[in-house]
Amino acid sequence: MNETLKVIRNRRSIRRFKAEQIPDSELKEIMNCALYAPNARNQQKWHFTVIRNKDMLDRMENVMKENMMNSGIEFVVQRAKTPDHRIFSNAPTVILVTGDEETRFVEIDCAAAAQNILLAAESLNIGSHIMTISEFLFASEKGDELKKELGVPDGYKHICTIALGYKDETPAAKPRSTDVINYIE
Ligand SMILES: Cc1cc2nc3c(=O)[nH]c(=O)nc-3n(C[C@H](O)[C@H](O)[C@H](O)COP(=O)(O)O)c2cc1C
Repeated sequence: MNETLKVIRNRRSIRRFKAEQIPDSELKEIMNCALYAPNARNQQKWHFTVIRNKDMLDRMENVMKENMMNSGIEFVVQRAKTPDHRIFSNAPTVILVTGDEETRFVEIDCAAAAQNILLAAESLNIGSHIMTISEFLFASEKGDELKKELGVPDGYKHICTIALGYKDETPAAKPRSTDVINYIE
């Protein structure tokens, strides 16, 4: 297996991170890979907010939890209620991916960029976890204020967040169904 294939096969969603921050130079490499993702008509209507400030990460988690509690969705409420539950698993770096609300296929563009981030991180032995539970981040007035404070461009919506940091666990690969591929030859 070549190195690229190994990286793809070895990536896992990491839910336990070490406190140590990842180096700036590697973060820059990772973010540059995001920008080289394929995207429809090269429209690049994505935006990446890289948060490494612990106070801000704590505030984001608190707003998210509050909004999750108010969501009325049972499993979401239960998750928010879980004692000591940390949505970003104490990752020292979190990337918020947002995209222009009016742009067609922006979710796919952002997903391609997000996958580049995950794989670039794995290639540098940095753990990652993509999540969409963070959609609750902006689901209130407090969330809207936070969105402004984070500098998300006007008219951009939440797509996902990605936690990054050194792995403090080595989970096994989750089983995959292989009967979803149909070869017509
Ligand atoms: C679009 C998307 C949304 C996800 N949202 C969450 C989430 O909100 N919370 C979470 O714990 N994991 C989330 N995940 C991670 C998945 O649970 C994980 O990718 C899946 O279980 C397969 O495990 P693996 O990434 O280790 O291969 C999400 C993944 C994707 C692609």
